[in-house]
Amino acid sequence: MIGLVFSTFGYFGGAVFLFVVIRLIYSALKNNGLLLKKSVKGEHVFMTGGGAGIGKLMCFILAKQGAKVTVTDINQEWAEQTAKEVKEAGGEAVAVKCDVTVVDDITKAAKVARDTFGDVTILINNAGIVTGKKILETSHQLAEKTLQVNTLAHIYTVKEFLPSMIKKNHGHIVSIASSAGLVGCPGLVDYCASKYGAVGFDESLRLEVKKIGANINTTCICPTFIKTDMFKGAKANEFLVPLLEPDWIAERIVLAIRQNESMLMTPFISNTIYLTRALLPTFFLDLYMKAIGVNESMDHFSGRNKD
Ligand SMILES: NC(=O)c1ccc[n+]([C@@H]2O[C@H](COP(=O)([O-])OP(=O)(O)OC[C@H]3O[C@@H](n4cnc5c(N)ncnc54)[C@H](O)[C@@H]3O)[C@@H](O)[C@H]2O)c1
Ligand SMILES: *[C@@H]1O[C@H](CO)[C@@H](O)[C@H](O)[C@H]1NC(C)=O
Ligand SMILES: *[C@@H]1O[C@H](CO)[C@@H](O)[C@H](O)[C@H]1NC(C)=O
Ligand SMILES: *[C@@H]1O[C@H](CO)[C@@H](O)[C@H](O)[C@H]1NC(C)=O
Repeated sequence: MIGLVFSTFGYFGGAVFLFVVIRLIYSALKNNGLLLKKSVKGEHVFMTGGGAGIGKLMCFILAKQGAKVTVTDINQEWAEQTAKEVKEAGGEAVAVKCDVTVVDDITKAAKVARDTFGDVTILINNAGIVTGKKILETSHQLAEKTLQVNTLAHIYTVKEFLPSMIKKNHGHIVSIASSAGLVGCPGLVDYCASKYGAVGFDESLRLEVKKIGANINTTCICPTFIKTDMFKGAKANEFLVPLLEPDWIAERIVLAIRQNESMLMTPFISNTIYLTRALLPTFFLDLYMKAIGVNESMDHFSGRNKD
């Protein structure tokens, strides 16, 4: 079999072919949760933006698996609703209002979290916003807000929770970034800047905790468009990049955490972005992105907040 592969493709082609096959099998194992998984039972999750979308869904999944969840959101009612539903389903949860752009809110929410369930052991930076405005149509204020929620807040929350994780030598920090942190897109100038920021933040954080020898894992999540209200109206090529189901991606993120995956780029096609960048000139990357439907993807965006 391997001999046939090498005689058909030559040594280099054969090696590349085998590498791709192994990589696809490994991906399939990860996607189906077939690698070793750690338990989240007894862990204390601090979720930002847990009042809606995939944050809310992850709260349910984690609580069902035995984690205690501090649900936070800028919208207090939504956070309370999530916590209420988690408790009704038999899980442990507490709701706190927390605008992640306000450091004082984070400090206060962290205190409630600690007083209720003890030290936070899994931090999930999930809160995110998008305006969908082109560079000349957005305001400085809107762009600043996007970077504050999607990037700077990760720094604020990690500074709050990392010290106790280091002390306990136990913890996991999750950054919900986006495929917009891997490739640009018209209409998403500030959003892409913020998500590239989140990706860089996660990678450097991983190296910093490794450098001090702390037993703390990091996970960076880069999905394409999800069927939540956040990106309502946006879409890429339906065949190549179908909209992700919120339930599916929420389950997949929890798997990524439990499998200690450092980076999740999903769907699989996203993994080809770095390869294209490395091997081909920009012209091809742009053509490739156009084929994926990036040029028109934001044309019919309405989103969650209409202003
Ligand atoms: N929806 C997509 O297509 C998509 C794709 C890739 C990545 N993501 C990322 O996934 C994450 C969750 O997205 P979603 O689709 O569930 O969005 P969503 O809009 O459904 O939920 C986001 C939640 O964050 C909260 N939030 C907003 N600003 C906040 C603030 N300042 N402080 C605290 N909470 C705040 C909102 O109230 C809301 O409950 C975001 O970081 C988003 O960028 C989304
Ligand atoms: C994940 O990392 C933690 C912390 O190092 C470790 O205890 C656990 O065994 C790892 N689990 C898996 C499935 O890799
Ligand atoms: C998780 O953390 C442990 C402890 O630092 C480390 O040994 C392991 O390699 C990490 N797992 C991944 C997938 O990074
Ligand atoms: C990009 O999309 C716009 C519509 O938003 C269209 O007019 C234009 O022709 C497209 N450009 C390319 C290169 O396809």
